[in-house]
Order: sequence, then structure tokens, then C-alpha cells
Amino acid sequence: MMYWSDFVSYSAKTRVLTVDPYHPDEANIQTAADMIRAGGLVAFPTETVYGLGGNALDTHALERIYLAKERPTSDPIIAHVATLDQLNQLAIHVPKDIVKRLAEQFLPGALTLVLKRAPHVPDNIAAGLPTIAVRMPAHPVAKALILASGVPIAAPSANTFTRPSATTAQHVLEDLQDRVDIVLDGGETSIGLESTVLDLTNPDTPIILRPGGVLLDDLRRVLPNVQLAPRYLATDEASSSPGQMLKHYSPRAKIKLFTGPLYSVLLAMKETAQAHQKRGEKVGLLIANEDCHHLADYGVIHALGKRDDLKAISHNLFAGMRQLDSQKVDVILTRDFGRSGLGAALWDRLLRASEGRIIDVQ
Ligand code: TXA
Ligand code: MG
Repeated sequence: MMYWSDFVSYSAKTRVLTVDPYHPDEANIQTAADMIRAGGLVAFPTETVYGLGGNALDTHALERIYLAKERPTSDPIIAHVATLDQLNQLAIHVPKDIVKRLAEQFLPGALTLVLKRAPHVPDNIAAGLPTIAVRMPAHPVAKALILASGVPIAAPSANTFTRPSATTAQHVLEDLQDRVDIVLDGGETSIGLESTVLDLTNPDTPIILRPGGVLLDDLRRVLPNVQLAPRYLATDEASSSPGQMLKHYSPRAKIKLFTGPLYSVLLAMKETAQAHQKRGEKVGLLIANEDCHHLADYGVIHALGKRDDLKAISHNLFAGMRQLDSQKVDVILTRDFGRSGLGAALWDRLLRASEGRIIDVQ
């Protein structure tokens, strides 16, 4: 761990420790927990995506996270906890009844709660906002690390800013080699998209700021008046509105996102692919298994899963973007996979990754 260069970047000699995702090795967890307590950075798997973790109560560790990720300090970070007690220590005016009912259904899990921040929690975790986002992950490695550290762990997704989130330790290393002290390699994450961020700072009107692993319809059963209200802003407008940048989760290639009736979409994708190929550009296709035979000769295909299997498509999405990037495609054509269930989160990530380059073929 090195501190002298903290002002420009965070540099570290990265160590990878392999852990069994179900029964993580105690010695490796302890080594990683010691690093968290010493102010260092540890990347670890959660059931959504990998997180880049540091002590949530240590201002300097938080600074290092922003530096390592090259993340604007205006974008606040989620604190990860292992117990509801720990959650209650980070927040004030917690709507206890709502949190209890949510916890019974969804925690630990892919749900992040935005609450009012307790005064002892550093400002820079929340980019100066009076709030704190808290998540209790279900992944055994994340749980073990938080418990062994004895502190809440601040962790954004373990990718550099605007890159697709990391769903394997290999992705973490692609982006953060020599900027993170330890990577706990617990294999692929299961969900593959980030948590649902639910704002409870006004408990009468709960708002989903980011759709994710916990679904709107399931939240509605506990909170009938919950609203889905993510906002999408161009990067320069976004500094006052954390986490809502349109350019987010992007591979290096430009993404074009097609929406409309399926067969019109497939036809339009084919024509667009041909037009790019005529200009000598390499096309990547991020599509469902059943789409492949329609588009076989029109680019490098990355099949995400069966059309109706949104779990598989979500699980594979970010890895697919990275895979096509590594094949040096110039443009990635992908499509709408519907909006219900995980479709809402998929649409959100695709919209951001495409920076609004939507081709509506209705
Ligand atoms: O699944 C996840 O949530 C992953 C894993 C590692 O837990 N984490 C993650 O963190 O996706 P990140 O930093 O990539 O995204 C956190 C989101 C951002 O949209 C951020 O703006 C929002 O949560 N957020 C964090 N603190 C907030 C706050 N106090 N108020 C409003 N939004 C907040
Ligand atoms: Mg992120």
C-alpha cells in the first residue's frame, strides 16, 4: 500500500487471493480485512457485481476509491454492511417499520437503501449529500469480509469510471491492476447487474433511483406507492445529480440500441450492420441466442442467452460488452429485451451504455 502518490492516483502492488465463493478461506478473508482496516483497497465479489472496497468510516480510504476508479467525487458511494445494527449506525431517522419489512423480504440481497446520514459518517462517501446509501450483500465472501473487517465497507462497482461493471476478478484486473491492494477472486458474480437503489429519505414517497437486481413488482408488494424514477443526464449536466450520468457502463466501442417489434428490430440491425461493414468497420452484435441465425454474417456475435431468459442475459451483459471490446469492434449493435422484471434494469444499463443512441423502429 502506498500513500505518497494519493493526490494524483492510487497505486498499489495488486495481490489476487482466490476464495471459494461459498466457503471463503478464513486466512485470505483475514488478510483482506486487515488491509481494509489499514486503509487499503480490496476488490471483492457480491452477488450483483464486484465492489472496490475501503473502510467507509475512513476519509482517506474513500479518497483512494475515487482516485483508483477515476470517479468524479460528485458521485456518492454505497456502504456495505453485514447486519441491520450496522445499517442503523450509519443512518438517522431510519423509517424502522419500512426497513424491517424490506429486510424480511429482500435483505441480505441486491437492494440498496438511501437514508439520512449519521453525522459521524464521512461527507465524502456521499459526495457531501446529507444521505447515505446502505447495502447488505448476500454473497458469502462479501459478508465474511465485512464481518472480519469490523467496519462498514464503502464500495462502488470495481471498474474504472464509465467502463462496464466487473463481474469477474479478471475484469477487475483489466481496469484496476496496480490500483487496488487485494482482489478476492470468488469467480463470476451471479446476478451480473447492480443492486436496485431505493431512496427512503422521504418514506411516504419511496423512489427507485436505479432499477436493479430486486424487481419493481416485488418492491411494490411491500411498498405499494414506490415509483421508478431514474434520470438520465448528459455527462456535463450531471455533476449536481449523482450517478445519473448517461455515459456509464460503456465499452470503448459505440453502442447502438434498437427498440421496436422484434422482427423489425432484427431487420434494422441487419441493415445497420451492413452499412457499417461497407464502411470497413468491425461490427459486434450483443443479442439473444435465437437472434443469431438472423444476423449470422453481419458481425462478431456475442449471444447473451435465450430471449426470455432475462437472468442469463443480465448475468452475461457486462462480460459481453467487455468481450466484444477485446475483439476491437468499432460499433456494438444490441436491442431492447423488454421492460418487465429484470428488463427494467437491463434497459437502464443499455440506455446508459449507448449514451442515448437509440434506434426506434416502430
Ligand atoms: O450492486 C451494487 O450496487 C454494486 C455492488 C458493488 O454493491 N455497487 C455499485 O456501486 O453499483 P456504484 O458506485 O457503481 O453505484 C452506486 C449507485 C450510484 O448510482 C450512486 O449515485 C448511487 O448508488 N448512490 C450512492 N450513494 C447515494 C446517495 N447517498 N444518494 C443517492 N444515490 C446514491
Ligand atoms: Mg458503477
